[in-house]
Amino acid sequence: MSNGAVRTAMVGCGAIAHWHLDAIDRASVPIEIVAAVDPVDAHARQIADRAGAVACSSLAAAIAATELDAAIVAVPHHLHESVAIEALDAGLHVLLEKPLAPTLDACDRMLAVARAAGTVFMVAENAQYWPEVLTVRALIEQGAIGDVITARAATFFPALGDFYGGERPWRFDLATAGGGVVVDTGSHWLRPLRIWLGEADEVIAALGRPHAEMEGESLCRALIRFESGVVAAFDAMLAIGAIANQPLFTVTGTRGELTIEGSGWVKLFDGSEWKGTKVGERGGYLASYEGELHDFARTIAQGAPPAAPAEYALGELRIALAMYRSAETKRWEKVWQ
Ligand SMILES: NC(=O)c1ccc[n+]([C@@H]2O[C@H](COP(=O)([O-])OP(=O)(O)OC[C@H]3O[C@@H](n4cnc5c(N)ncnc54)[C@H](O)[C@@H]3O)[C@@H](O)[C@H]2O)c1
Repeated sequence: MSNGAVRTAMVGCGAIAHWHLDAIDRASVPIEIVAAVDPVDAHARQIADRAGAVACSSLAAAIAATELDAAIVAVPHHLHESVAIEALDAGLHVLLEKPLAPTLDACDRMLAVARAAGTVFMVAENAQYWPEVLTVRALIEQGAIGDVITARAATFFPALGDFYGGERPWRFDLATAGGGVVVDTGSHWLRPLRIWLGEADEVIAALGRPHAEMEGESLCRALIRFESGVVAAFDAMLAIGAIANQPLFTVTGTRGELTIEGSGWVKLFDGSEWKGTKVGERGGYLASYEGELHDFARTIAQGAPPAAPAEYALGELRIALAMYRSAETKRWEKVWQ
């Protein structure tokens, strides 16, 4: 640590690295990016120039060139295991972008290395810190909608240039991404359902490929039965045309309903106002990165546990893998088999 800031290498300087940097700046997170690591020199330089860091072509070069406490690992999914393990083996605290890894075996190997390393190992599942998601959790706990009957998570979004740009985006390649929309963006919509409803028991899913260039699924329509017995719907699509505005989440209870809108508002429908009542402050998806990065810095500084241990991210991967099995068998599939 220097001046209380965590000296950090940004490993993988693509789209999400810039969002991380934005959040660090916006929220004065005590993280100092001192090395920008990317085999694509232009990517490394963009982050290095923004952060006043050294541009490096590999993590090994960054370790040799700088004093590091930590690494933020934001590389394509098939590289999560090797890069995270390299950073952990070097004694660094690691914030690894989701998913933990595309396979359960890889996850097990990484978690074993992290346990042995004894440094902080967090999965960057920013939905854990999404302000509206936390507001909904509090409202459910307060009984604002009575007992939860069901919920729906819906992530319909276009192929944004930031994440699907270039000639052949790695997200279109099944071997690299490990799946389609469920394993990628889907995790941010599955985590809130788990926060509100507990652990998932079984799923039934239908998958589609409206986006023909994408080898993995670009459409998923699924039901998730939670251990509590509550059934939730999960819809995800990488849209190929215009899409209508709809709530990102709806939670329906015995006395009312809660929605999270794309505009960043939580709305409570309790019968008092037909348009619903806005609750709390306007949040927004981007605000979730601020909480996540603050939690990483705080966990390193204080040695206190993070909001969610890395192991918890196995839950979203297991749900995704069960959905993939279900699409094959056309039956309900257990999540924790
Ligand atoms: N939390 C979120 O909301 C969110 C959003 C988007 C992406 N992500 C995650 O972030 C990660 C990166 O996604 P992205 O959209 O930024 O991808 P990207 O393609 O924009 O960036 C990835 C970068 O990694 C670099 N890279 C490849 N191999 C490397 C290596 N060995 N060492 C260092 N850098 C290497 C690439 O050159 C590229 O610049 C993925 O895990 C993705 O799922 C999370």
